[in-house]
Amino acid sequence: MTVTEQTGTAPRRDAFPPGFVWGTATAAYQIEGAAAEDGRGPSIWDAFCAIPGAVADGSSGEHACDHYHRWAEDLDLLVDLGVGAYRFSVAWPRVLPEGRGRVNRKGIDFYRRLVDGLRERGITPFLTLYHWDLPQALEELGGWRNRDTARWFADYTAVVDEALGEAVPYWITLNEPYCSSIVGYAEGRHAPGAREGHGALAAAHHLLLGHGLAVQRLRAAARPGRMIGVTLNMSPTVPGTDAPGDVAAARRMDLLVNRQFTEPLLGGRYAEDMEEVFGALTDFSFRREEDLDLISTPLDFLGVNYYYRIHAVEAPYREPDPARRTAFDIGVRTVEPPSARTSGLGWVVEPHGLYETLTGLRTRYPHLPPVYITENGYGDYGELEDTGRIAYIADHLAAVRDALAAGVDVRGYFCWSLIDNFEWARGYDARFGLVHVDYRTQTRTPKASYRWFRDYLRGAGAEG
Ligand code: NOJ
Repeated sequence: MTVTEQTGTAPRRDAFPPGFVWGTATAAYQIEGAAAEDGRGPSIWDAFCAIPGAVADGSSGEHACDHYHRWAEDLDLLVDLGVGAYRFSVAWPRVLPEGRGRVNRKGIDFYRRLVDGLRERGITPFLTLYHWDLPQALEELGGWRNRDTARWFADYTAVVDEALGEAVPYWITLNEPYCSSIVGYAEGRHAPGAREGHGALAAAHHLLLGHGLAVQRLRAAARPGRMIGVTLNMSPTVPGTDAPGDVAAARRMDLLVNRQFTEPLLGGRYAEDMEEVFGALTDFSFRREEDLDLISTPLDFLGVNYYYRIHAVEAPYREPDPARRTAFDIGVRTVEPPSARTSGLGWVVEPHGLYETLTGLRTRYPHLPPVYITENGYGDYGELEDTGRIAYIADHLAAVRDALAAGVDVRGYFCWSLIDNFEWARGYDARFGLVHVDYRTQTRTPKASYRWFRDYLRGAGAEG
């Protein structure tokens, strides 16, 4: 079939089936602020941000967008935008300041206000349980390297379910376990800032296990109509050249980013090349016989976050040496394709990669559940007339339309993000919002992309 690419023209609204869900997404640590308020405990991100040099501009999520106090104003922005759904995350350390045990009522109350506020506005909540903010108390017990963390995550899930289960129809266990494990425990670019081989792969496994145990707990609560899923970041990997070394390197990268997670979750098996690629880093002693069954518990939907494709070439392996930051090495280097279109932040823009991701999933997994694009968005340094963001969204919507036409059951699209926010290790200079935030005054100013998306959702201004 023909695939539309990079015309900057969004598909007609009626290219999307009736009931298709439109939304925007955020995450607790990136927007809430109020880090020390109402009994919230510290998370690994509070600790990480305090390390000099860990975050580019030396900032943290301590105040962020002050959404903890301004949530009502932010939900009104959703109403004006005209979306039917909102994806947000619950901060584990707000609910359980020590990660387990004592429940912080005030933390629960905040999410109750938020969820009630959404429902009063007729907006469907999509709740993410874990968007990277592990309670610091649990990191001190080993964090995700520790198998017990999977169990504590399931206990936390049960607490949130008890409080919000009847009001929230869509539940996402994890956001991007690749980032929580590999970026956090292998590359050290995210909290907790570790550079390990075995620890990072154990973290990835325990995140998947925690997901499985959480699904089990949510299912046990037997809430009618509830939909349960997990969100993965997905990036097709492309070899930089046709050379066999680069082809093999791209395949290793595909394992690291994609298949390490999709194979157990959707295929009920470990990826076939896990031992070959990671065998020098770990002995896989963290696996137990019962784990795969838990991890591959059937899902009601899969969340896909898509931003870019990865172009990979072979690179020489370096000897493991944590001091030289080479503890985790699979002999791959990423490169930029020649004459690439890039975002304001310099990220490669390849909408076709979203089509490839969606059709690839369908080909690989015969029982693929319905898919929601739980994130897709464009980063820059703060344009209010953000035409690059408009073109990016339009082109990615065209890719979704093409995937639908190819038979993939895509049910919704969430733009990252509603408002500019704390972009993790990049701090505040990188901006993804449809709405600009002045962090000094906390003034929200809709950007051109917000107006464009609003018109699009109203059915006006749709071209093609
Ligand atoms: C994915 C993450 O889930 C989100 O937290 C982040 O801000 C965006 N990507 C943009 O980098």
